[in-house]
Amino acid sequence: VHIADLLRRPAEIIGADSKASHPTIPLPADLYRPQRENSHGIEFGERAALDSLTSAIAAERKAAPGAVDIATAEQASAAVAAARRGFKAWNDMPAARRAAILDKAADLLEQRRAHFIALLQSEGGKTLDDALSEVREATDFCRYYAALGQKLFGEAEAMPGPTGESNVLALRGRGAFVAISPWNFPLAIFLGQVTAALMAGNAVLAKPAEQTPRIAAEAVALLYEAGVPASALHLVQGDGAIGALLVGHPAISGVVFTGSTDVARSINRTLAAKDGPIVPLIAETGGINAMLVDATALPEQVADDVVTSAFRSAGQRCSALRLLFVQDDVADRMIEMIAGAARELKIGDPAEPSTHIGPVIDAEAKQRLDAHIARMKREARVHLAGDAPAGNFVAPHIFELATAGQLTEEVFGPILHVVRYRAERLSEVLAAIEATGFGLTLGIHSRIDDTIEEVIDRLQVGNIYVNRNMIGAVVGVQPFGGSGLSGTGPKAGGPHYLARFTTEQTVTINT
Ligand code: NAD
Ligand code: ALA
Repeated sequence: VHIADLLRRPAEIIGADSKASHPTIPLPADLYRPQRENSHGIEFGERAALDSLTSAIAAERKAAPGAVDIATAEQASAAVAAARRGFKAWNDMPAARRAAILDKAADLLEQRRAHFIALLQSEGGKTLDDALSEVREATDFCRYYAALGQKLFGEAEAMPGPTGESNVLALRGRGAFVAISPWNFPLAIFLGQVTAALMAGNAVLAKPAEQTPRIAAEAVALLYEAGVPASALHLVQGDGAIGALLVGHPAISGVVFTGSTDVARSINRTLAAKDGPIVPLIAETGGINAMLVDATALPEQVADDVVTSAFRSAGQRCSALRLLFVQDDVADRMIEMIAGAARELKIGDPAEPSTHIGPVIDAEAKQRLDAHIARMKREARVHLAGDAPAGNFVAPHIFELATAGQLTEEVFGPILHVVRYRAERLSEVLAAIEATGFGLTLGIHSRIDDTIEEVIDRLQVGNIYVNRNMIGAVVGVQPFGGSGLSGTGPKAGGPHYLARFTTEQTVTINT
């Protein structure tokens, strides 16, 4: 597909009654339909339905707080042994049955939407918009992997050829697969990893983030209720030390990890240093994500999309905008509009439906962000520095940097860094983005096709968004994940994801 073609045929970009001549990867449409775009939060028609949901959410929130047991090293090791034992029966189960179990899990999630929203708000600090889209995304992951898995793992594929023999290729589970997830999507990423590994026939050791253990515990209980046998899914609660222990265990067969780049490297080192079978790692990590805005962009749309991309979810999305490049001719006006829109955001109790920005995840995160803000106040020009309520809240901030190089690491919160550029120096901007080494998301606001093409062509970034916000990839439609320091691929919610959880077996029979 040529980007130039897409730019000229907008209807085909969204796939609306496309007569495109370019190849398409069809959704398993008979089996899976994505929900509405989860980047847009609460949809217009849904608001009324939500009004009745809010009382249900409030009732769920009143439920007694839960507690979880943290695994000891011995228990973690025993869980690996139990997963090894559980693997064969689960892998032998027909793919259609495994898929039916995941579909049932999706049904249960939908039925218990209010409960999971309440949990996401109380344990994860998520606003109503964020919690709602997260339940949607989790449901989509279950249904999409079920649909895809049925097609991929249903039957071995015949490989006809000139050998005069019968050749078939089958995808099979690898064994005990470790799934380590972060706190920022404690339901969607947790379930996305676990259901993908299960659908591919693996027994799973699920190690959720220590900040959000209860959501994980309830998600696992839901999978058991849907029909996943306890022998195939083992929840191992704990911090990074427990994660490291699982990864270092000699009997595991694969690792899927989502989190920081530093931890991904450390897992990679552990796996590389182990004796025994070579264990693959799927790592999805962070980014210093940029957006480019030139003088042809529509200012109101830019303000809206920048505020959504940088500040929604309190900036605690791996996809969030960190570094905004604005063409100098329009920079003053654009920054003023963005700051104006950001000032309108309501910060506070995530349980209050009108809140836009809830708390950051914990006191440690707040301290880190406050330290960065203090440094930026000394080193950058301040365009926005609001006050936040007491507690783990951080108000949106906008700092203008002299050069992009001043931002050297992912800052995981509602802090936007702006750099001005001259149109004739676009190439230097692209070089600065490349120099970060990350490649997760990128935004472009421009009406110049050549600029858009040049940027897409040059940058190796996993998800590029043109003339819209840059968060909220839709499962099955906008496969998500980066390259370089941002991850190994394959993309979550994409057609190539499940195969990486498997091992391939070719059988040749001389007939
Ligand atoms: P983190 O790396 O600190 O922790 C992630 C998980 O790894 C947690 O479960 C943690 O307990 C575990 N862990 C920590 N040390 C470990 C070790 N040595 N061995 C094994 N496991 C270990 O990340 P976080 O703070 O929970 O999440 C935020 C990060 O995740 C950000 O960098 C963000 O960009 C990234 N992220 C990426 C994606 C993506 O899809 N690319 C999505 C969400 C978050
Ligand atoms: N998949 C999430 C997003 O696109 C991280 O925002």
